[in-house]
Amino acid sequence: MESLSGPLLKIHKYGDPVLQRKAKPVKDFAAVKSLVPAMFDLMYAEPGIGLAAPQVGVSLRLAVVDVPVDGRPNPMVLINPKIEEKKGRIASTEGCLSLPGISVTIARAAVVRVSALNELGFPVSIQADGLLSRCLQHEIDHLDGVLMIDHLSLTEKFKAQLEIRKRKKDGTW
Ligand code: NI
Repeated sequence: MESLSGPLLKIHKYGDPVLQRKAKPVKDFAAVKSLVPAMFDLMYAEPGIGLAAPQVGVSLRLAVVDVPVDGRPNPMVLINPKIEEKKGRIASTEGCLSLPGISVTIARAAVVRVSALNELGFPVSIQADGLLSRCLQHEIDHLDGVLMIDHLSLTEKFKAQLEIRKRKKDGTW
């Protein structure tokens, strides 16, 4: 695990097969102990509000999230998370650290209830709406190998891929 922590962590971008793989459940909590703070550091440095382990090349069902509440940090660790309940549907714009510069508008459930384990292995239950609801769904998608652009129509996805190609060419990817 040494090579997975500290400054060696980097964001894997769209096109990397690890992002399209269904991640495996975390079984060994000791093995991910150093990964969690390293992922928070990278997420805050980018900056971002969510980061899933596959985005740092680790195909495990683990994500970190921090959607501030009233301007205060609200860090969460989600291990083996599961969406227990979904309500409503709302379209909004989102981005992804693995798709730099790309922003898409997609519909997701408005409210979700998520169960997960925290970094100590204790069960947590999160009821979320607004940005946190969207962020949780986005991160859990990552654990299933699903990226935000996979929610687009073929035409929209093609447009996004053209933008990605352009960014790769002009060095803004
Ligand atoms: Ni993402």
